[in-house]
Parts: sequence; C-alpha cells; structure tokens
Amino acid sequence: MRIYCEKDYNAMSRRAAAVIAAQVVSKPECVLGLATGSTPIGAYQQLVEWYKQGDLSFAGVRSVNLDEYVGLAPTHDQSYRWFMQHNLFDHVDIKPENTNVPSGLAADAAAECARYEDVVKALGYADLQLLGLGRNGHIGFNEPCDNFPVATHLVDLTQSTIEANARFFASADDVPKQALTMGIGTIMHARSILVVASGADKADAVRKTVQGPVTPDVPASILQLHPNVTIIGDEAALSGLR
Ligand code: GLP
Repeated sequence: MRIYCEKDYNAMSRRAAAVIAAQVVSKPECVLGLATGSTPIGAYQQLVEWYKQGDLSFAGVRSVNLDEYVGLAPTHDQSYRWFMQHNLFDHVDIKPENTNVPSGLAADAAAECARYEDVVKALGYADLQLLGLGRNGHIGFNEPCDNFPVATHLVDLTQSTIEANARFFASADDVPKQALTMGIGTIMHARSILVVASGADKADAVRKTVQGPVTPDVPASILQLHPNVTIIGDEAALSGLR
C-alpha cells in the first residue's frame, strides 16, 4: 500500500484527482470504478475543472459505480445515479451509454445484481477503482459481516450506515434500508485501487484497514491483500496510524 498524507481535504482531493487523471491520460479508454459519498466530491470537482481547461477528456472512458440504494429512482436527488450525474457526468464529455450504475428500481434485485456483475466483468473490471470508507470500514456497501461477498449483491444496511447517511435525507426513516453493491470480489478484481479518506471520524476505519487483521468484520481490511492500493487521506483521517 502507498499512503499519502495531505494536510487537508482540498489537498487530498487534488492528489486523488491527479491519480485519476493520470489513469485517464495514460489509458483514455480505461474503465474507472467510481464511488459516491461526500469524500470524493472534491476530487470530482477538480477533474471537472481540468476537463473545462481542456487538459482532460473522458470521451473514451467507461465507468462502473460501486453501488445504488434500493428503491430510489435515478432522478431522486439522493440516488447514486443522480449523484454521479450532478457531480461528474453532466460536466464532462463521458458518453452517457458508457456510464454504469446498478438500478435501484429493478423488480428482481438478484437478476439486477447478476446483470451488473456481468457488465463489470465484460468490461474487464476496473483499471482504477475509487473507494471511500464507511466509518465501520465498509467499502461500496459491503457492510461488516462474517464473510467477504464475492459478487454484486443485495445488502441490508447497518444501523450505523443508515445513521451516517441520514444527514442527506429528511430523516433516518427516509434512508433506504437496502442497497445493491459490487462485492468484495468485484472490487478486488480492479487493477488498482484508490482510497480517499477525510476527517477524524474515519481515523479508526483507516487504522483498521491498514494495520488491523484482515477480517470481513472490517471489509476494507481485505485491501491489504491487493497488490496495488493507494490511500490518500488528510491528517485527521490518518491520525490513528502508527
Ligand atoms: C456510503 C457509500 C460508500 C462511501 C460511504 C462513506 O455508504 N456507499 O461508498 O464510501 O458512504 O461516505 P462519506 O464519504 O460521505 O463519508
């Protein structure tokens, strides 16, 4: 693992954007695995800026997102499809047909998970997978459990995740209770992985990810077994590392 400590959120975002931009420049038709949550927003803003300056093009890029809430339409402002449109896709030249997010409205969730896994596999998995970290060490929506889920699947969100994400909804009752997420296996197929973490409330998750035992109780800890992981955090998020 390579770990970069940046002084604050802006510096973290800029370095993360540089890693993503380097991937796009070196392989314009790459597959980017993309993440939602508040942490990557600054990196997306920086990428949009570089695109607008003419320094970066996403015209050949294919994207696969990690996850989506069950029951939210793509037009719902808390859906992850809406997030991606609003924070990145609508502002750059990525082709809409080259963007992939699981459908939260599929009547048959299992069939949608199988379809989505096939899409990611057919693309050859991600060249670079961007990840945020849940406070409990979840990645995508792979919550702590007693095994590492292999493929895209339906999950019941933990109470701590529902509470953490309630800030984006009118109340905790409005947060969907389930999601579709790439599996740990899907994520680990990526050729390289970039984790972004910001703020003291991620320090424990970062510490367990990097220095704890590899256990499905901390899903991100499996990244210790991946050959090409970069973690970019701000000082607060990395403050728990020895
Ligand atoms: C959600 C997403 C994760 C994200 C996490 C942390 O649970 N499914 O992909 O990493 O939130 O979000 P934030 O960056 O807002 O702390």
